[in-house]
Amino acid sequence: MKLFDPLGPGSTTVSYAGLLEKIEIVRSTLRWAPKLERAEIEKLLNQANTLRDEVMQLSRKERFIEAAALEPQAPDAADLTAGQRRQALIDRSFVFEGTFGDNPKLLAALEVAEKAAPTDLPVLIDGESGTGKELMAKVIHANGSRADKPYISVNCGAIPDNLLESELFGHRKGAFTGASSDRKGKFESAHTGTIFLDEIGELPLTGQVKLLRVLEAHEIQRVGSDETIAVDTRIVAATNRNLRQMSEQGHFREDLFYRLSVIHVSLPALRERRDEIPLLFSYFGDEAAEALRRRPVKMTPKLREFLLSYGYPGNIRELRNLIYRLSCLAGDVADVDHLPEDIRPQRDMPTLVEAFGAQSTAGLSAVPNSLAEAKRAASDEAERAFLERGLQETGGTVAELARRCDMNRSHLQMLLKKHGIHSKDFRRRAQDGALREKS
Ligand SMILES: Nc1ncnc2c1ncn2[C@@H]1O[C@H](COP(=O)(O)OP(=O)(O)OP(=O)(O)O)[C@@H](O)[C@H]1O
Ligand SMILES: [Mg+2]
Repeated sequence: MKLFDPLGPGSTTVSYAGLLEKIEIVRSTLRWAPKLERAEIEKLLNQANTLRDEVMQLSRKERFIEAAALEPQAPDAADLTAGQRRQALIDRSFVFEGTFGDNPKLLAALEVAEKAAPTDLPVLIDGESGTGKELMAKVIHANGSRADKPYISVNCGAIPDNLLESELFGHRKGAFTGASSDRKGKFESAHTGTIFLDEIGELPLTGQVKLLRVLEAHEIQRVGSDETIAVDTRIVAATNRNLRQMSEQGHFREDLFYRLSVIHVSLPALRERRDEIPLLFSYFGDEAAEALRRRPVKMTPKLREFLLSYGYPGNIRELRNLIYRLSCLAGDVADVDHLPEDIRPQRDMPTLVEAFGAQSTAGLSAVPNSLAEAKRAASDEAERAFLERGLQETGGTVAELARRCDMNRSHLQMLLKKHGIHSKDFRRRAQDGALREKS
């Protein structure tokens, strides 16, 4: 290790270790100096000690600067492509029991959740029904320091007003008719862990006041008891309502809203992240196949086209249920007839793609609602064609295709999954072709 030399090359550089050694020599000579008074020796020794401490501090500082220079700088999310951001989340082992693609809104939500998870800050998750709010709450718990502590979920919309307080904070025996024994509330059960307050927007105003008290004082009182009990509980709340608007209209306490939403995560509706739909088909198709002990269901182009352009008011939950239904009702291949009647397109009505005489392709959305959507569908289609041609040329070898187009192999695998392309089909075709040539 060398001292920083402001005079530039050519001047003598001195090592910290060398300096410290010299100081040690001065100190030991001083200690036994015959011609000096004791007081003088003490004074000089003190000066030598100060000098030694200063050199050691400089040495530590330099080591710190060197280490910082070696450490790779985390790139700014804004400088990365969506694919790189997704891969970065996976590489950082951010635990997420689900699937996600390149949608910037979802990636942003996951990145915020990842940063919030290790802290104890309250998190408010909002999004339409079925967008994955509960899943996100579990992800935040699982990635935090309380992961091995309790995770207690409470549906605030499902508790009758008169039982709310007892449900959340517990009660003492005899506190009200029916309270036949002492009972712990959800907050106490979640002590040291996380409490997930689902449908927080349904919490009546009286409940909101009590919740605010817990957030401020970190203590609760069981119904019918004067005793205060300290609780250390991380709060994650979810809602499909607009709490800010509700608080402006006086339906939700503004102070509670601000306390709950220190970190605010918004999950986009599925129709805003259509690019993720093929990925979810394949994810839930495999999941349903495993649950139903069958092979993953295939789809006719007409069904696939319908499902790619459907609005999914129930978001991911609706898509998941549809795939389970198709996997249960269909044989090898599912068609539009297997859809629930209320969403099934009429039998003899051609899809728009058919009506316009375009070729019916699996990745093309039937009714692009906007130019952006049409562009995305076209880009999906190009991606699919590229992958298929690549696999054809490499005889179905994913590693070779990854090498040829300089892509990360796991990213390539994910794209194949997204499009429901199986490399083994291409390998089989290549083998069949080779056999035919031989015979
Ligand atoms: N990104 C995802 N990948 C895989 N599965 C997902 C994803 N997001 C949500 N899901 C699944 O969708 C279903 C609905 O998710 P969840 O219950 O978390 O939604 P929610 O927003 O809490 O809905 P609600 O408001 O109706 O309670 C669950 O089965 C969940 O596992
Ligand atoms: Mg939920």
